[in-house]
Amino acid sequence: MGLGYVGLPLAVEFAKEGFSVTGVDIDGTRVEQANQGRSYIPDVSERDLARLVRAKRLVATGAFDGLSNLDVLIICVPTPLRKTREPDISAILSASQAIAKSLRPGQLIVLESTTYPGTTDEVVLPMLEAGGLKVGRDFCLAFSPERIDPGNCTHTTRTIPKVIGGITPTCRDMATLLYRQIVSQVVPVSSTKVAETVKLLENTFRAVNIGLVNEIALMCDKLGLDVWEVIEAAKTKPFGFLAFYPGPGIGGQCIPHDPMYLAWKARVHGFEARFIELADHINRYMPHYVVDKIVQALNARKKPLNGSRILLIGLTYKKDVNDTRDSPAFEVARMLSERGAQVDYHDPYVPTAELNGTRCRSNPLTQDQLRRADCVVILTNHSTLDYSLIRRHAPLIVDTRNQYDQAGRAPSNLVKL
Ligand SMILES: NC(=O)c1ccc[n+]([C@@H]2O[C@H](COP(=O)([O-])OP(=O)(O)OC[C@H]3O[C@@H](n4cnc5c(N)ncnc54)[C@H](O)[C@@H]3O)[C@@H](O)[C@H]2O)c1
Repeated sequence: MGLGYVGLPLAVEFAKEGFSVTGVDIDGTRVEQANQGRSYIPDVSERDLARLVRAKRLVATGAFDGLSNLDVLIICVPTPLRKTREPDISAILSASQAIAKSLRPGQLIVLESTTYPGTTDEVVLPMLEAGGLKVGRDFCLAFSPERIDPGNCTHTTRTIPKVIGGITPTCRDMATLLYRQIVSQVVPVSSTKVAETVKLLENTFRAVNIGLVNEIALMCDKLGLDVWEVIEAAKTKPFGFLAFYPGPGIGGQCIPHDPMYLAWKARVHGFEARFIELADHINRYMPHYVVDKIVQALNARKKPLNGSRILLIGLTYKKDVNDTRDSPAFEVARMLSERGAQVDYHDPYVPTAELNGTRCRSNPLTQDQLRRADCVVILTNHSTLDYSLIRRHAPLIVDTRNQYDQAGRAPSNLVKL
């Protein structure tokens, strides 16, 4: 249930192993594309998808009336934040409600959506048991967090170990048996709450370390130091240090959201998650810092931001993906436009996007486009981008991803984060 960045790759892996897979999604476009064998997720090969659809191993549908025919139901629906920055588990609720309506003995239900500790046993379980069936005896319920890293070709659904917690030992064992068919290693844990918290720890670890390195970047700026050079040298230490890199802010469905799920649950229990709040504060400040850098760089050339042409390179929240959800690039674009700049973008993964209420097209990355811009701002480091072209032709570059030489060899038209 949910054929997105998590659900589609998972559906393909099960189908490849010979399972008969049904993908249920409320998004009619995704259902249609999946059934045509057209992949909208870069990590899913179109050839694999088309072959599996042709072989009738994988079928997508918008209809929820066939759920009782399925042996296993895996929930991979979104878990965003509300405007108040509190968890919004409404998609989990509606998926669970749909399953509860036709739950039958023998079914295994697995929740994979990232969520706060207690969602599986305190929220989903009562919904499923409301019809009279008993967990562990009539049906099984487990939580297994998805850990994929879109755009990462080294670690994929099949090679990333899968953590599994069941409501009962039988639930855990059934889910373990299932996932053993498609992943190389499973890691059973004692409860669904532990499995839920494992995922939140992993992403909180990232969010806090990114927050820390962003703060170090802000400090280095004050001290006149190149933060990138500092990190490169620090990471030569063979133990006790793990390199994280500063950037224009965090985005996507995981790093900005997941720690907030944990902090919210902790708050409900009277505990203030201070590291999480602080990291969030610093990470959300970064787009403002980038805009300050642009203003300063233009100012040094006696140009006001108002009326300047700014070309943003990369709209996605990280490299080599087409996912723009919650990308800090939109915040940067909004602040620049509010101050009178004319904002365009180039992103090979995003042909069109809504910038400040207007649908825009990705500008081609040509000498002309680069020369016409008053300032080119590098926001992502897609592997396919031609940075030497940018370097040669942009009159002024603000680089948030360190695409240029280390150790003080930066050209005069370059401002680094
Ligand atoms: N994207 C990632 O890198 C990633 C990695 C690990 C975990 N996660 C987590 O996995 C979950 C899904 O993330 P995603 O990136 O795949 O989201 P997504 O938005 O790409 O896909 C979710 C899909 O679920 C569908 N959907 C919504 N409500 C539904 C319902 N009631 N029934 C059926 N389908 C429904 C949506 O139409 C959408 O296609 C989230 O909890 C996310 O935090 C995401």
